[in-house]
Amino acid sequence: MYSRIAGTGGYLPQQVVSNSDLEKVMETSDAWIRERTGIVRRRRVGAEESTVDMAEHAARAAIAAAGLKPEDIDLIAFGTVTPDLIFPNSAVLLQARLGCKRGCPAFSMEAACSGFIYALSVADKFIRAGEAKHALVVGAETLSRITDPADRTTAILFGDGAGAVVLSASADPGILSTHVHADGAHADLLYCTGGLGRGKAPGTMPPGDFIRMAGSEVFKLAVTRLGQVVEEALAANGLEKNALDWLVPHQANMRIIQATARKLDLPMERVILTIEEHGNTSSASVPLALDAGVRDGRIKRGELLLLEAFGGGITWGAALVRY
Ligand code: ACO
Repeated sequence: MYSRIAGTGGYLPQQVVSNSDLEKVMETSDAWIRERTGIVRRRRVGAEESTVDMAEHAARAAIAAAGLKPEDIDLIAFGTVTPDLIFPNSAVLLQARLGCKRGCPAFSMEAACSGFIYALSVADKFIRAGEAKHALVVGAETLSRITDPADRTTAILFGDGAGAVVLSASADPGILSTHVHADGAHADLLYCTGGLGRGKAPGTMPPGDFIRMAGSEVFKLAVTRLGQVVEEALAANGLEKNALDWLVPHQANMRIIQATARKLDLPMERVILTIEEHGNTSSASVPLALDAGVRDGRIKRGELLLLEAFGGGITWGAALVRY
């Protein structure tokens, strides 16, 4: 038994924040942001929109693309570090919104930008074990709510959005393998100051907690770890680089994506890029890119895709997929 991607969906909030908009509120320039990151625009939620709201749009699109109804879904795995509530988790809230089967397992995974790959990996294993037939896998984030508007080293990078896929049980291989990793020794390089740890007085949830990142250290680790994990995924399947049709990378920085593509000897025309328009949407970025490539007809059934992501933790992972 395998799982295969039966449908994809994506959603972006309306508000567009361009590099020139950012130039007006912080010491930066469109030229710097383009050259160092490849980002031109990103989307931002309005005050009345949340991670689960966006996830609902993406999930409905993925379920429809799979030719299914919400009541067919029997597992929800949701990657996010910007949940609507501390609990219930975002997958549970989404289950009720969509009208999926009451009782179907629904859980969230906090693996930062690798959250979708982690969720995909777990959902694939449920299906392979025969414990689910149709799994909804979501990555959705409202990073704008945990980004410090006064910190130009992070405020230029992040955007909001949601992506989803439906995995269905299949006799033919779809997800060939998934590979997820973490190294908590680097937790201090990229983290959000929020949470309920030491120093928080009882009964307080102070606002103003933001992402903090040591950008160039994270950059170097991302290039190394992504290079390793894409080779691991190919080796696990006895495949050569030239078997790949598409790289669907996490959209953190154009230069990181280019380094991974070079490692795979893949021309950039074979890489699905959304970074220019979306910025870094953390766990939403891989499913959003996948959905873009599927919907515009570039990614075709039967093609071999390599999905990869890297994020705070640090966490990283890849999935090799026969689409
Ligand atoms: N505008 C103009 N100048 C800036 C800006 C800005 N927005 N930000 C930083 N600078 C300046 C710095 O102050 C520095 O100036 P100095 O030389 O006078 O000290 C100079 O530009 C270079 O700064 P670096 O930090 O060395 O720039 P770098 O080339 O490393 O680019 C960046 C920074 C884009 C953040 C890059 O390091 C990066 O992409 N890192 C990885 C991010 C990532 O992959 N995160 C993981 C996923 S995110 C997640 O998990 C939530």
